[in-house]
Amino acid sequence: MDAPTRKMDQSSHLILHLTPKAEIDKGITVISRGEGVHVFDTEGNKYIDLVAGVTRPVHLGYGHKELAQAIYDQMMELAYFTPLMFANEPAIKLAEVLAGITPGAINRFTFECDGSEAVETAMKLAKHYHYFNGDRGRYKVLSRKGAYHGVNGIGVRALGSVVPMRHMMEPLAPGSVFAESPYCYRCPYDLTYPDCDIVCARNIQRIIEFEGPDLFSAIIGEPIQQGFGVLAPPKEYWPIVRGICDKFGILLIIDEVICGFGRTGKMFATEHYDVQPDLITMAKGITSGYVPLGAVGCTDEVLKPIEVFNHLHTYGNHPVPCAAGLKTIEILEREKLVEASENLGNYFLEGLQELEHHSIVGEVRGTGMWTAIDFTVDKKTRAPLPAENLTNMIARAKQKGLIIKLAPVRQAFEFAPPLIIQKEEIDQAFKIIEECIAEEEKEMGL
Ligand SMILES: Cc1ncc(COP(=O)(O)O)c(C=O)c1O
Repeated sequence: MDAPTRKMDQSSHLILHLTPKAEIDKGITVISRGEGVHVFDTEGNKYIDLVAGVTRPVHLGYGHKELAQAIYDQMMELAYFTPLMFANEPAIKLAEVLAGITPGAINRFTFECDGSEAVETAMKLAKHYHYFNGDRGRYKVLSRKGAYHGVNGIGVRALGSVVPMRHMMEPLAPGSVFAESPYCYRCPYDLTYPDCDIVCARNIQRIIEFEGPDLFSAIIGEPIQQGFGVLAPPKEYWPIVRGICDKFGILLIIDEVICGFGRTGKMFATEHYDVQPDLITMAKGITSGYVPLGAVGCTDEVLKPIEVFNHLHTYGNHPVPCAAGLKTIEILEREKLVEASENLGNYFLEGLQELEHHSIVGEVRGTGMWTAIDFTVDKKTRAPLPAENLTNMIARAKQKGLIIKLAPVRQAFEFAPPLIIQKEEIDQAFKIIEECIAEEEKEMGL
């Protein structure tokens, strides 16, 4: 097949995800190569990738030979073997390494293909735990409005942000219950921290009491939430939620699919909080996006009652992505990229904060190498800027050689560059972001 030299259009046989036909009519950029924090398209354009592949897995950047070699070597050694009644060395080793770096008592692991499957599997394990404890009625799961936990089966019930994705697939398995998110900039209760007494967390208890505490198997949430654009809850939030779980015998699933592997300046974002999850989910940065992998970790206590895990994926515990995970973690640790995420992440955040004087910039926030600009039409009321203005700015940035993205609720930009990014590349990106904001303001007559 000849390499394409132009945009993809409706004549292509390929189906894209979340891409309206109108966008395909305009032509879709074909990315053909990556190197460090840069990607190149088939028309000869070069971009700084400020979102690590847009869905943000590429922690180590593009073209990492050592990682690619580890994947090749594993393929030659053992390309595949089943997770059913057999084990393989990379999966055993990766589980052991993860036991050493995941939060506290998380100690047992199973491997899937992506984050959605990891979420699905964590929910299944939670259900298994209750079932084997003789507690068979716990079918409800509490998530939060604005959450994103993937697109699969029962996992999609927790989808609180890309609402059409959930609606189209309804009716779903019953049992989805939503609480408000800890969105301090636009508090759903119109309160201000710390006077709010963290009502967004405390109200979870009231919701559960109303719904029936004995019917809940799990509460799921990201430690720092993507949906509205990188929301780090106050330090009291997760301990309060943990207390509610303990009160009612509900398991706490912390979804580290984006946050894990250094994204927030710690190996796992749970470490920013004084909380012990019962289960955690991981994906994305675990292999730096080079091959697909999702993972679930749980405590010994969760696994203890489970006689058999009634679950099977052909590609579960797959040796090749597990080898990629082992190499990725080795490189993250050796090159101190988690520390770089914290230190350069602070530089990134401070640089973005300099944009707060712009009239459409509402709040800049972030943790480690994961930051956001929440836009507004009115700094007093904090009413969101229409998504159209944000997509205009994203298109402008692309024209200028910078790839950025909208947070799912479509009122903020989210930035999550490869953790190998350097100061000069961040400075180049800032210059473009500022130009795009200024141009949009001008066009809005501000
Ligand atoms: C927090 C969280 N959980 C789960 C998922 C689903 O992961 P995947 O897209 O790999 O299926 C995502 C995807 O962005 C996510 O952000």
